[in-house]
Amino acid sequence: MFNNAPIGVFDSGYGGLTVLSEIKKRLPQFDYLYLGDNARAPYGNRSFDVVYNFTLEAVNFLFEKGCPLVIIACNTASAKALRSIQQNDLPTISVNKRVLGVIRPSTEEIGTLTKSKHVGVLGTTGTIQSQSYMIELQKFAPDIQVTQHACPMWVPLIENDRHNSLAGKMFIEEDIQILMRKDPEIDTVILACTHYPVIKQQIEEILGSKVSVIAQGPIVAEKLADYLSRHHEIENLLSKTGSVHYYTTENSHVFDQKASQFLGEQIASEHVEIAG
Ligand code: DGL
Repeated sequence: MFNNAPIGVFDSGYGGLTVLSEIKKRLPQFDYLYLGDNARAPYGNRSFDVVYNFTLEAVNFLFEKGCPLVIIACNTASAKALRSIQQNDLPTISVNKRVLGVIRPSTEEIGTLTKSKHVGVLGTTGTIQSQSYMIELQKFAPDIQVTQHACPMWVPLIENDRHNSLAGKMFIEEDIQILMRKDPEIDTVILACTHYPVIKQQIEEILGSKVSVIAQGPIVAEKLADYLSRHHEIENLLSKTGSVHYYTTENSHVFDQKASQFLGEQIASEHVEIAG
């Protein structure tokens, strides 16, 4: 079982596991509850209202399980729901709870990583259309030229373990070439979808050694450590026995099998219904 005040980590499905594993490495002392809304994933092509409602249900579920802090480890949900939840819902739910996303930590860092000042952003259709990366990068690194490209096929390919198939490789290569044709001076590509670290090596091989490929997990983990060191009122609430408990809205056996592909370890999840 899990402890009484864990950190909640939410994703539409499996992608957030790539973030959770980095957070666990950086902050192993805390307890964690992971929730994957696999039954309703992918979120990438869904409307603003749908993603917002699903994300709010997930956040409320994790709050009810005792999490004082929830990390939305999904770019699509961070882009479409985080701000509304922080500004409109949180004040009425509880003044003592916090929700953080993955876009701000990444955009705070990216300016320090590029030399050419040309950055590429790859994400789901929802994340790219939201312009969240453009808006945030404009704040933190206004001198950077940002070029975006949506890759709607990548999440289904990764979730179905087809990214190494002939067709899968073709889709991935084509999307990367489209991005690089838009701006050949790009020297840093941010993987703005938590699923993409699973194919980071494949992306690096296509891009070659002149382009750095940045996964968000390590950045989010470092920023969370920094946040907790500055927010003792939250850190003091968190339980610290190093446990992890996994929830999925899908069949738990299916989740357990696929989760090992993202985590590199076997887990046993629990099925849960969160739809209001
Ligand atoms: N993990 C989500 C993200 O980071 C993508 C998966 C989905 O489309 O649900 O955007």
